[in-house]
Amino acid sequence: MQSLEKGEAVVPVSRQIILYGDLNWHGFQRAQKLLHARFETQGFADIELRLDVGNAYPNGVIPLVLLLESYRQQGREIGVVLPEAERLVRLFASNDWIRHLDPRLVGTSGVRLASALHSFGSDEELNELINREIDAVLGRVTFAEGVAQAFEWTLNEIAGNVLVHSGVGAGLMQVVAMPQTHHLAIVVADRGTGIPETIRRAYPDYPNDEAAIEHALQKGVTSRPDFGQGKGLTGALEIVKENNRGRFEIHSGKGYVGWVDGRFAIKSDFPPFPGTVVDVQLDTAHAIDVSRALWGHQPVSFTETLYGAGMPEGVMRLSLRQEAASFGNRITAARIRTKIENLLSSEPGSVLEIDFSGVDLIASSFADEIFGKLAIKMGVIRFSRRLRFLNLNNFCHSVTDDVVQARMAQHVGKTA
Ligand SMILES: Nc1ncnc2c1ncn2[C@@H]1O[C@H](COP(=O)(O)OP(=O)(O)OP(=O)(O)O)[C@@H](O)[C@H]1O
Ligand SMILES: [Mg+2]
Repeated sequence: MQSLEKGEAVVPVSRQIILYGDLNWHGFQRAQKLLHARFETQGFADIELRLDVGNAYPNGVIPLVLLLESYRQQGREIGVVLPEAERLVRLFASNDWIRHLDPRLVGTSGVRLASALHSFGSDEELNELINREIDAVLGRVTFAEGVAQAFEWTLNEIAGNVLVHSGVGAGLMQVVAMPQTHHLAIVVADRGTGIPETIRRAYPDYPNDEAAIEHALQKGVTSRPDFGQGKGLTGALEIVKENNRGRFEIHSGKGYVGWVDGRFAIKSDFPPFPGTVVDVQLDTAHAIDVSRALWGHQPVSFTETLYGAGMPEGVMRLSLRQEAASFGNRITAARIRTKIENLLSSEPGSVLEIDFSGVDLIASSFADEIFGKLAIKMGVIRFSRRLRFLNLNNFCHSVTDDVVQARMAQHVGKTA
């Protein structure tokens, strides 16, 4: 695809950009430079961007989505050609990256997959999104003590900052859980004013962008004292520091500040990022003392808002009907068991009520995967102390009883 004008005697320059390598932050920067060259230096009005990438990650795709949005808003046309490998096609689809990269490829109506890329533009939208993401990861990852609360707090603060500070009131967010490696990643980004710029409004002494970002990470530093207390970024950083293999990285304007492998990395970014990208990674297997990280503050957590609403102190309730459409397979059941374990470990002093209303039938394998395995893991005394069963019909009652008894008998047999 060449762009030679009639009679032009120069070496042809393609209007096609091919991006090789991995689409991570560095891959994004390569794309950013190439797009800049084609649009600004070579003067094209439309470009085809071919993603011949080996792999792709949220910290590369999300800033690229924002950059493409900016160019399109300026009237530039960019067609994206997706990678061809089957594995990558699935990756781009399951993360819902395709419609964000090029709405013409699939239309704009969202599929609202959990753990996919989402945009948000209001606090209601953000709250709903965060609740859904928390609910989804609770069923996928087993959290060490405090990590689920830390994750919820961090996500709220970083995404909340976009609404309050970016100047554009909208952003993108993606949560990625990797149960095998015990990683949970949060990427939040906007194409707004950027941290250095907002900080300079209140603290004009910070001429370079990385120094301004560093300043924003101090406790009590806020550009909007009418609104905030300057605790969000620093609290998120403290949480990451408490968390063994945690990482925290910010790219904004010409600045980069990261907490990686237990130390700060600070440098300038080129090209500058026209907005803010915050990338946080938590190690879900490593406990976090949230109250110590947050200076003695114990945040209200999902255990109260999602599972304790309207309940007396010390009681949470999980409705099975809301967790699944059918009660027959072990995969669904394992997800519910993981969630129950996370709820119990997040609130060690609370009781969890399992509400069977609306559940007429339950398969033995399903009941075994949840309650049989929980009884073994917890031991019969803790199991009966911490779980309460509500609204079971006779059938569900006897199936649940049977599987728990069978597991206990098997266990006793093994240990005898
Ligand atoms: N997405 C963003 N865009 C632009 N500036 C930002 C963004 N996020 C943070 N900032 C800047 O960094 C400063 C510090 O953020 P931080 O979250 O620590 O405190 P705050 O939001 O001001 O107060 P609090 O979080 O206690 O409500 C903000 O005051 C703002 O100037
Ligand atoms: Mg904040």
